[in-house]
Amino acid sequence: MEDLIIIGAGGSSQQIAEAIEDINLREPRWNFLGYLDDDPAKLVQTIGGARVLGPIATATRYAARFVIGIASARDPGRRKMVFEKIGLDRSRFATIIHPSANISRHATIGAGTAILQNVVITQNTVVGDHVLILHNVSIGHDAKIEDFVTLSPAAVVTGFSHLRAGAYIGAGSAINNGCVVNDNAVVGLGAVVVKDVPPATTVVGNPACPLARALRVQVAR
Ligand SMILES: CC(C)(COP(=O)(O)OP(=O)(O)OC[C@H]1O[C@@H](n2cnc3c(N)ncnc32)[C@H](O)[C@@H]1OP(=O)(O)O)[C@@H](O)C(=O)NCCC(=O)NCCS
Repeated sequence: MEDLIIIGAGGSSQQIAEAIEDINLREPRWNFLGYLDDDPAKLVQTIGGARVLGPIATATRYAARFVIGIASARDPGRRKMVFEKIGLDRSRFATIIHPSANISRHATIGAGTAILQNVVITQNTVVGDHVLILHNVSIGHDAKIEDFVTLSPAAVVTGFSHLRAGAYIGAGSAINNGCVVNDNAVVGLGAVVVKDVPPATTVVGNPACPLARALRVQVAR
């Protein structure tokens, strides 16, 4: 068994920890040492039986492998920032795939990526490094999911869609065939994306449009 540490001790990280437990129940694979987190309130805590070992900067002291579980719609670039700050080599990151996920043998999945319960990834899809794919996400054929993308529960990404680096896709949203969600853009909860989303822009609604514009329309009504 290999030692494994999760960076960040929030909700997504705890879901990854449970996926690790489920993997180990099938076949012992990971010796989960605990979490690293910069929140002083969490440092003294045990979460679901696992310790918060110390701040994130201590990662380089461990010979373990890592997954970064940090995800936030308010700061979609944060996981990349943490990755760059700790400066560990790609080979030090583990790929975690929950046993219930259904992944095409013709898909590729990167390092540091975590795929949780009941995710479906169909053929020719390319998933990059440090991608978080939460439960019940469905990804259609030939989609391209770049590094540091987050897919929240039950998001639907249809064929040939392209999610660029750091995009955050909200729960229950849908991305139409071939649409591009550009770098660090945020697709809000339940949004239906039918055209490309510009970089670092938050879109909401059906059809999805930039949040500021959606609110102006609401006020006008
Ligand atoms: C889109 C989002 C990022 C906006 O967050 P925010 O900038 O903090 O915005 P606020 O919550 O302050 O809301 C601002 C306004 O946008 C509206 N709004 C927020 N999210 C919306 C959404 N998904 N669809 C439609 N309108 C939305 C709010 O009603 C509010 O309108 P008001 O000013 O008329 O009251 C956020 O609401 C969201 O959808 N996050 C994704 C959540 C998610 O999927 N989590 C999964 C965790 S596992």
